Amino acid sequence: MSLMIWSGCTTNEPEQNTVEVSSLHQLPDLDKAEQLLNTTCYVCHSPTAGENARIAPPMEAIKRRYQMAYSSEENFVEAITSFTVDPSEEASLMRGAVDKFGVMPVQNFKEEDMRAVAKYIYQNDLPQPEWFEGHFKQMHPDSGMKMRMRKRNMMGMD
Ligand code: HEC
Repeated sequence: MSLMIWSGCTTNEPEQNTVEVSSLHQLPDLDKAEQLLNTTCYVCHSPTAGENARIAPPMEAIKRRYQMAYSSEENFVEAITSFTVDPSEEASLMRGAVDKFGVMPVQNFKEEDMRAVAKYIYQNDLPQPEWFEGHFKQMHPDSGMKMRMRKRNMMGMD
């Protein structure tokens, strides 16, 4: 209620004061998350590099793989966060990527930053390279469902 009165008093202020109350708590984190993604993750997980010029999978590929294994946002965010603060072959879901590129190098990322980045990845559409759809269908012809069940089973989730 006090917020509504407050925003009523700021109609002459710049646009940024008129964000919706429901999204207020997310904004600062997400801005930072988007920046981190663009300036840090995309150095390796480039959304535009060609299939043969890559040093890591595109982030969209990682997102889809993690969504197959973790359907809730909470588990998705947990899994990405714990991998990125402490990458290891054991924690990897993407064995093909590890074979091809080697395990992601440790970056000393902060846990809270990674949580914000993971949330951003979950909630937003990511840019993806043109070759990606074809590659993804080739790798996962049954588009997720069977693979998700197999994986959940293996991990003892069901
Ligand atoms: C120095 C290069 C580099 C940077 C920077 C980098 N990554 Fe990676 N990442 C890799 C490589 C290489 C792989 C593929 C091998 C693997 O899966 O470990 C990978 C894999 C991953 C995986 C999948 C892990 C799996 O196998 O299950 C996630 C999740 C991930 N990166 C998240 C991120 C996020 C989020 C950022 C930015 C905050 C980031 N990475 C920045 C190189 C990088």
